[in-house]
Amino acid sequence: PVIPALTIDGPSGSGKGTISRAVAGRLGWHYLDSGALYRAVGLAAGWADIDFSDHGALVRCAFDTAIVFETAGTDEPRVLVNGTDATAELRTETTGAAASAIAAIPEVRTALRDRQRAFRQPPGLVADGRDMGTVIFPDAQIKVFLTASAEERAGRRYKQLSEKGVSVMLDGLLREILARDARDAQRAVAPLKPADDAVVIDTTGTPVDAVVERVLDLVPASL
Ligand code: C5P
Repeated sequence: PVIPALTIDGPSGSGKGTISRAVAGRLGWHYLDSGALYRAVGLAAGWADIDFSDHGALVRCAFDTAIVFETAGTDEPRVLVNGTDATAELRTETTGAAASAIAAIPEVRTALRDRQRAFRQPPGLVADGRDMGTVIFPDAQIKVFLTASAEERAGRRYKQLSEKGVSVMLDGLLREILARDARDAQRAVAPLKPADDAVVIDTTGTPVDAVVERVLDLVPASL
């Protein structure tokens, strides 16, 4: 029997994480935060003092890093990287930049491919990332691509970080988001783009609940 998969791809700050988690919760399906895997490998590589030009060492790190999502009923699960709680450190812009750098290496992406596919377990999977619908789960029954203006995405990230007491500058965040978008869209391997069969949803100015309902409307009752 085919295990259902719903892929939600899009740029950083498009609301993917929040919406994917909510949709997975409503469906009672598993949830894969693929960005967290890239972030965890970027973080572990930094901890191990690996030179980011040493692709062989980065690929070994992608295979060897132990990454555990602890879902204890909280909406944001704890993430253990090599046994250490790295939940907060995973979300920083520094870790995001490290993730984006290692994610441009084809062999690193291959190293993480089967680990991502292993999350597809009954009764179904909601997978959030950049290439879920194009590369990792090309046979997913439902594919969504979320967008939002760069200004809105920077604003959301600003609010998130401010609520956590992290002091940042809005224009700096906007610059970082634009730089990361450009890197993710222009890289030769698995560039950020909607799958041909993805439904594109622009979330600019749309409340989370409304986007969640639109995504749930795409899921046939027969799945
Ligand atoms: O989604 P998130 O911001 O956590 O992703 C961090 C980085 O990991 C992205 O900027 C991107 O470079 C990379 N990534 C990727 N493919 C994915 C998920 C994330 O290349 N499926």
